[in-house]
Formats: sequence, C-alpha cells, structure tokens
Amino acid sequence: MLDRAYFEDLDSSDPLADLRNAFSLPDGLIYLDGNSLGPLPSHVPAVVQRTVVDEWGHDLIRSWNDHGWWDLAERVAERIAPLIGAPPGSVAVGDTTTVAVYKAVAAARRLRPDRRYILTDTGNFPTDLYVLHAVADQAGAEVMSVPPDQVLDRISPDVAVVSLTHVDYRTGRRHSIPDVDAAARDAGALVVWDLSHSVGAMDVDMSGSDFAVGCGYKYLNGGPGAPAFIYVHPSHQAGFRNPITGWWGHAEPFAMESAYRPAPGASRAQTGTQSILALVALDAALDVFDGVDTRALRVKSERLVADFIRLVDERLPWFEVVTPRAPDQRGSHVSLAHPEAGRIMAASIQRRVVGDVRPPNLLRFGLAPAYQRHVEVWDAVEAIRGVMESDAWRHAPERTGPVT
Ligand SMILES: Cc1ncc(COP(=O)(O)O)c(C=O)c1O
Repeated sequence: MLDRAYFEDLDSSDPLADLRNAFSLPDGLIYLDGNSLGPLPSHVPAVVQRTVVDEWGHDLIRSWNDHGWWDLAERVAERIAPLIGAPPGSVAVGDTTTVAVYKAVAAARRLRPDRRYILTDTGNFPTDLYVLHAVADQAGAEVMSVPPDQVLDRISPDVAVVSLTHVDYRTGRRHSIPDVDAAARDAGALVVWDLSHSVGAMDVDMSGSDFAVGCGYKYLNGGPGAPAFIYVHPSHQAGFRNPITGWWGHAEPFAMESAYRPAPGASRAQTGTQSILALVALDAALDVFDGVDTRALRVKSERLVADFIRLVDERLPWFEVVTPRAPDQRGSHVSLAHPEAGRIMAASIQRRVVGDVRPPNLLRFGLAPAYQRHVEVWDAVEAIRGVMESDAWRHAPERTGPVT
C-alpha cells in the first residue's frame, strides 16, 4: 500500500522539482487540468506587459523590426522543434490547432491525390474529425473512421492520409508513432499526427514522421488560445502546398508580388499576420523547457500516472479506470468513468482539486511533469475519496458553465 511519505520521497528526489517554481499556481490548489489549459509561468505577465507598453505603446510599427516581431513566429517554431524531435526549419507556428490540422491534412492529401481514403479513429478529437470531413469534401476523398485498435490493420494502398491524435483526449490511450508510421510507409500513405496531448509532457520523435500539429496552450503553457504549430518533414517541404496561401508563407512577403511563391522550409505553412501578444506569451512560456530533457518529462509523467492509477485501484473503488494499464499505451492524463462524473468533478473542484469532464461519463486528470508534485497525486486522491465518502457530490451541480 502506498502512503503519503512515499510521495514526499519521490518529490525530494525529483530531478524536475525546481521547474514548479517557474509557475504561478494558487496556494492550496491541486491543478490537474494542464492537458486542457497549462498554468501561467510567473514571468509571462511582465514580458507581455513590456510588449504592450514599451513596444506597441511606444515604439509602435518600428517594433516589427526593432523588437523582432517579424520573425518571432519562426523563433518560437525553432524552440518547439526540439520538443518533438524535429530538425531546424521544419516547424511553423501560428493559427489554431484546427487550422493547422486543416493545412497539414489538405497538403498531405494533395501529395496522394489518387487515393480514396483519409483514415482516422473514432476517438479522435471532434475538431480533427470535422476538418477531415471538410478536406475530404473538398478533395473528393472519403473519411474512414475506425476504432483505435483497428487503425494499423486498415492502412492500405487506398489510404492517402492517416490522421491521428497521438494521445486520445478522452481516454489517454496512445498510438505507437513508429508502428503507424511504418505501416503507412509500407502502404505509401502519409501520416499527420496531432500532438496536442503529448508535446511538453513526454518525449516525441517526429524525425521519421511526415507531418504533425500541436497545441500551444496545453502542456506548453502558452496561455488560452496560444498559437499552434505545424511540422513538415524535410523530405515533404518542397512539395508542401499550403491550402491557405497568404503573404506570411511567401518567399519574399515585402516584395509584394502579385503571384504567390512559397517560402522555403516549413515557413511556407504560414498564412497571415499572427497575434504578437500571443506569440510573446508562448515564447516566454517556453523558457520553462530550456535545458529540460524531454525523456525526463516522460519518466516523471509515467510515474505520476502509474501512481495515480494504483491509488485509484487501492482507494477509489467507485471508479473504473478507462486509461490503458500499459505505460507504453498511454499519455499523461488519467480518465475515470462514473455515471455522475459532472457532479463529482464539481465537488472535487470545490475541494480545490481541478480536473475536467468529458461526455458521457469521464473525469479527466492531467498530470503534467513540468510542475506536478508527486504528493499532489496522493492529496488529490484523498480529496476525491472525501467527496465520495461524504456524498458531497450529491449536492454539487451537474455542470458549472458552458466549459466542462
Ligand atoms: C487533440 C486536440 N486537437 C485540437 C484541439 C483544439 O483545437 P483548437 O486549438 O483549434 O481549438 C484540442 C483541444 O482540446 C485537442 O484536444
């Protein structure tokens, strides 16, 4: 049986323990929702304020040159590349994850125009599914959506693009990147990975993968609505046709040519002017990962997740663990099923343990290795046990607002 002292010991020997000091987390709050919105790194407000007051407020238009606004997106992209095992020049930053999925899948489909299917799994995030249908409509393809465990078997020479979220937003189940990439390569198909629930929580190696996208506001902590990223393997960059050609993806934007000429490298995946304030916040937030070995993130994430599941087994008999048991088949969040998920989460939040819920019956708890303390796993499980034993959840609301 685990006890609190076990977790305190883990914290005292945690090589990443100091990273937590970079964050501004409210006292007494156990924040287990970084898979949805990462917390605020403490130095970000001052950086954003300086950009607003000194740069925008004082230096105005000159800031594009004098304060490096113009190539900020490219600098941020170069900082994200090592977090996903991508070489320099292969990542572009901007837009939303949804738009990035659209661009990557549409461009991939254009590289395989004669094939019938865009293959995905039924658990993919809704925005990805909606975009796949849009691309299929526009490109005369069909979406084939299969249960996650059937994806590998369904990759065939009829498939143009395999579009998957690496770690399932609902269950935490994880696809094997090497296995899917190898099967796609054998069949001549291309793969687009959505790394939204992976980047910043574990090591990811895109060096053998075709395309990827990811979110800036989850484990990268870039702030609500932070810019997304798109990765294009070097071998596909010359053939990458951005479906939303704009001047930011042009080879020479200030030549103001009337005809489009794509920029070299992944920069051609850019479209138009990005929110500099959002980029500045994401850029500053990425300081947290400077010098951090992503494998160490993975090791800590595995420990946090394994211990959380073990404690649920030992101390929370009311729940079914939906997240896979095998460490190599899951990401960095744990999902528990209960028919009263909404009320239980509301009561848990009242006790300062913050996760979220996903329909129809899942409570999700994100365990972010950059700032989580091991002892929070123990304290969170104890708080939830209190919610269940006291029946406090029966008096809690089913939902507290539009965002669950
Ligand atoms: C896997 C995945 N993709 C995309 C998104 C969101 O896309 P966007 O940032 O465009 O809203 C989410 C949001 O939670 C997600 O979980």
